[in-house]
Amino acid sequence: MARDILKTLKEEHDALRELFATLKETTDRAEKKREDLLERIEAQLIPHAKWEEEVFYPAFQERADRDGQQTYYEALTEHHAVEQTVIPEVHAAGYGTPEFAGRTKVFGELIEHHAKEEERTMFKMARELFSTEERAQLDEDYETWKQSASAENLMIAEKAKAGLKGAVKNLTS
Ligand SMILES: [Fe+2]
Ligand SMILES: [Fe+2]
Repeated sequence: MARDILKTLKEEHDALRELFATLKETTDRAEKKREDLLERIEAQLIPHAKWEEEVFYPAFQERADRDGQQTYYEALTEHHAVEQTVIPEVHAAGYGTPEFAGRTKVFGELIEHHAKEEERTMFKMARELFSTEERAQLDEDYETWKQSASAENLMIAEKAKAGLKGAVKNLTS
């Protein structure tokens, strides 16, 4: 079967859903487990979201009609809310606290909402807007990018940023 970027992105959503489901089951005593799970979530989510923002979303926007444009802005705004507010708040909470449990629950709910919207609306539109060959090519480009140094550097930068914002929130709260 031909490769397809939409299939890959959907599989990554499913992997995230599973990680969030496992995280939700943890207790305040499972600090190490929570730390590991959060790390795995971010390792999965950050490259996914960045590549969507930098490659997939702009390609989609270029071809989208009025409804597609709105879908594009909805998705982007959700990315920003997660990146700028939710992730820093999660990092500002200690792993063994109810704050962490509450904030990661919202984190998971927002990701679920966002993934569902992408799958049901944006990817559905994209299936009409991009040919099978284009979707296969995008999938290949994505894989190459994920293996590249720029993806690696991005992870380091994003983590430093989230950690820093978390630290500032700790100071001011
Ligand atoms: Fe997204
Ligand atoms: Fe996505």
